[in-house]
Amino acid sequence: MPTLTIRRPDDWHLHLRDGRMLCAVLPETARHFVRALVMPNLVPPVVTGAQARAYRRRILAALPKDMMFEPLMTLYLTETTDPDDMAAAFADGLIHAVKLYPAGATTNSASGVRDMARIRPVLERMARIGLPLCLHGEVTTPEVDIFDRERVFIDTVLAPLCRDLPELKVTLEHITTADGIAYVTEATGHIAGTITPHHLMLNRTHLLAGGIRPHYYCLPVAKRAEHQMALRRAAISSNPRFFLGTDSAPHTDAAKESSCGCAGCFTAPVALSCLAHVFEAHGALDRLEGFAARFGPAHYGLTPNLATITLERRDAPVTYPDTLETGVGPVTLFNPGHPLYWRVV
Ligand code: NCD
Ligand code: ZN
Repeated sequence: MPTLTIRRPDDWHLHLRDGRMLCAVLPETARHFVRALVMPNLVPPVVTGAQARAYRRRILAALPKDMMFEPLMTLYLTETTDPDDMAAAFADGLIHAVKLYPAGATTNSASGVRDMARIRPVLERMARIGLPLCLHGEVTTPEVDIFDRERVFIDTVLAPLCRDLPELKVTLEHITTADGIAYVTEATGHIAGTITPHHLMLNRTHLLAGGIRPHYYCLPVAKRAEHQMALRRAAISSNPRFFLGTDSAPHTDAAKESSCGCAGCFTAPVALSCLAHVFEAHGALDRLEGFAARFGPAHYGLTPNLATITLERRDAPVTYPDTLETGVGPVTLFNPGHPLYWRVV
């Protein structure tokens, strides 16, 4: 049976939630990933160093005793973020990034940023101390078509930001467009982009043709096939600016399968199977380690993991349960709709 052994990966964009949902989903990540950059969009959001410290404790308390996992905490940037509190949390080694959500862009982003001018002092401080900024890269202007929101964000927010603060370390998260790939490839400065397994596997036809598939709905929404192919080319390119952030974002089936369903795909359990599938399809399995385990730590100033993980290619399709029970309702696992053959051993 063909096998692939790589350094153990990290997940540079993960939603762990809280309470019973946290307890249910955390082992699904800890089983395969050593570290993850934990998103702060709880309700209420993780805004202060004290809140990040308390959330980190709850995550570690939820971790099964026989598992190892290091949560890398983030703060949720608001227009009233205290730069001193933020800088102290970074100096303590508690937080590894600050997350900017444009207000209203996605799940639990109501406290996000409306006016970039108001966070300018915080961003200048981040640039000075080397604290990375993570971006949900979509404008929320109602007039801008939802399929254009990433492209317009790049033109109207990201490019001016990188021009004005060239020292700032920036991650354009969950890139979904060829425009995003081109910008990150060509920009000068400390910029990187994360790519999700589901955006490598889906385009908007999968989401909408032959019936609407709520479990494929996430933000930024999947785009045309030509954009999906640009993401694939970037992921397999060995350009260290592109690396894995799963954006695994669990919601209960009741919240997804609704007349106004939540955005988010729960990919953590299947992420490595999906990635190996895509990289194999492009004859690029030798490049999976860079994407999943080396380029992310380099961007965030950490060393890659020493431990390894082995995947094997089965002759018969690998099966996963349809749902994960969480105590607050079932959560459907991401299923690309075709067989997967690689699994972690
Ligand atoms: C995320 C969530 O559910 O928290 N949803 C999503 O569709 N990706 C939020 C986010 O990262 O946009
Ligand atoms: Zn996310």
